[in-house]
Amino acid sequence: MKAVLLDQAGAIDQLTLRDIEKPTPNKNEILIKAKALSINPVDFKVRGNEDVLTMIYGPERPAIIGWDVAGEVEAVGEEVTAFKVGDRVFGMVNFLGMGKAYAEYVTAPYDQLSAIPQGVSYEDAAATTLAALTALQVLRDKVTHGDRVLIHAGSGGVGHFAIQIAKQLGAWVVSTSSSKNKEFISNLGADHHIDYRAEAFEEVLENIDFVFDMFNGEILHKSVALVKEGGTVISIPSPEFSTETKNLAEEKNVHLAFHMVQSNGADMSQLANMLQNGTLTPYVSHQFPFDKIGDAHAQLESGRTVGKVVVIL
Ligand SMILES: NC(=O)c1ccc[n+]([C@@H]2O[C@H](COP(=O)([O-])OP(=O)(O)OC[C@H]3O[C@@H](n4cnc5c(N)ncnc54)[C@H](OP(=O)(O)O)[C@@H]3O)[C@@H](O)[C@H]2O)c1
Repeated sequence: MKAVLLDQAGAIDQLTLRDIEKPTPNKNEILIKAKALSINPVDFKVRGNEDVLTMIYGPERPAIIGWDVAGEVEAVGEEVTAFKVGDRVFGMVNFLGMGKAYAEYVTAPYDQLSAIPQGVSYEDAAATTLAALTALQVLRDKVTHGDRVLIHAGSGGVGHFAIQIAKQLGAWVVSTSSSKNKEFISNLGADHHIDYRAEAFEEVLENIDFVFDMFNGEILHKSVALVKEGGTVISIPSPEFSTETKNLAEEKNVHLAFHMVQSNGADMSQLANMLQNGTLTPYVSHQFPFDKIGDAHAQLESGRTVGKVVVIL
């Protein structure tokens, strides 16, 4: 089979398409014939940093990165009864371990996957994986009806799912982006938009119960300063917060936490239900063929992507 291999971390040209042996599923795994995969910022962070690559893949080289896959079941392990050959499945596999999703065939534990609802394309399914799981896991059980919620970068991969899920939970939602993405954010259901280049969100917002932070640093600090006493701020770029930000959160009795997305088949089924009943719609702004996966990395690394970048096999 063809796979995109990484002999060492580095620039985009370290990703090379080569032939390797097709994997075989363990007893609780499924072998997926991949039809589409999606790219996330973690992909280029791992690709570009040998320490991060080694933390996840150990000494194994070449490494196959990638975690988001949609495809058809090619074979099942002997203990798998939940899926059969020919089923359409999707999921974020083995995160944050050896995902190995940049390949024509991918193995994954059956309980990290869900069936793709009828009528949902492989590209939309592939888009609704890591980013959508993150939004679901961060917001569910924390945001309740009537909460005033600030979602940073609502035009991005995680943010565009987060706006839709927060609205479903009954929140009043404000989200930030540059002015060119205002309409996109409003169409997702956000009640208010802030152009971060023209307005300081911390000066124009008040009574915010919950902040979903995509940036850490100064934006996180201002978010903790802005949120109500006793409110919640969940940040996803890194678990390291500055001492000033931690102290401020403590003074204000703000619940400040990092969330790391978890592979989870039950959560994937919840997303599948939302796709089916139309309460969640992914937006795929860019599609690339498998042999142009480097262009997909370049697009996402620009930091300007709207919605999701998907690679078609
Ligand atoms: N911990 C976890 O489990 C986890 C899971 C998923 C993602 N993450 C991390 O979360 C971050 C976001 O991921 P993503 O996939 O959503 O990224 P993304 O899709 O690349 O986000 C791009 C969007 O960010 C917007 N943006 C850029 N600068 C902004 C600013 N200063 N204020 C508001 N919006 C801004 C851009 O809009 P404009 O072009 O309009 O500026 C663009 O639409 C990444 O660091 C990623 O690694 C962590």
